[in-house]
Amino acid sequence: MSDVAAIRRIANAPGLTNPGNAGCVPHTEWFKVQVRGGILLVATRKTKVVGFIMGEKLLGTVVMVWMMGVTEKLRGQGIGKALMNAFHHECTKQGKNIFVAYAYAKNPVIIKLLKKYGFNQGHLYYEFIKLPKSWK
Ligand SMILES: CC(C)(COP(=O)(O)OP(=O)(O)OC[C@H]1O[C@@H](n2cnc3c(N)ncnc32)[C@H](O)[C@@H]1OP(=O)(O)O)[C@@H](O)C(=O)NCCC(=O)NCCS
Repeated sequence: MSDVAAIRRIANAPGLTNPGNAGCVPHTEWFKVQVRGGILLVATRKTKVVGFIMGEKLLGTVVMVWMMGVTEKLRGQGIGKALMNAFHHECTKQGKNIFVAYAYAKNPVIIKLLKKYGFNQGHLYYEFIKLPKSWK
């Protein structure tokens, strides 16, 4: 829970922010909910949070992989792959073996990463989202 502020700072990146007026970086409360009930892993370097991956356990053996991010200046050094591996390991340990993820269509890195980990690319969708006005 004490890492939520750092996670939220990393989540302030194109492709992770929400569309619309109440959008921008997802609300702190949402991250806290994921810490309580989801699977949220962080990557650290010298005790500093430098990346995260977050998924929500759905019914049955399904996990919705909500988002992942790495501190901008540390990208391309394998942290994303390490997070993916650790996430897969943790999900398997918890009996989850169906993974759903939505990737920003203009983000070749995440598309490449997902394919590398066995995700099959599906159809192209637009995201529609309605958030409470209080989410600033
Ligand atoms: C997507 C993201 C988490 C990947 O983390 P990362 O630590 O940079 O990833 P890695 O260094 O482990 O690299 C993963 C793969 O992508 C490739 N890659 C990394 N950066 C790249 C770049 N800028 N251009 C092309 N390929 C790149 C790597 O070569 C690697 O592939 P390989 O195994 O074939 O060599 C990171 O780029 C990020 O935080 N992006 C912004 C937030 C975001 O878009 N999140 C995803 C949507 S939820």
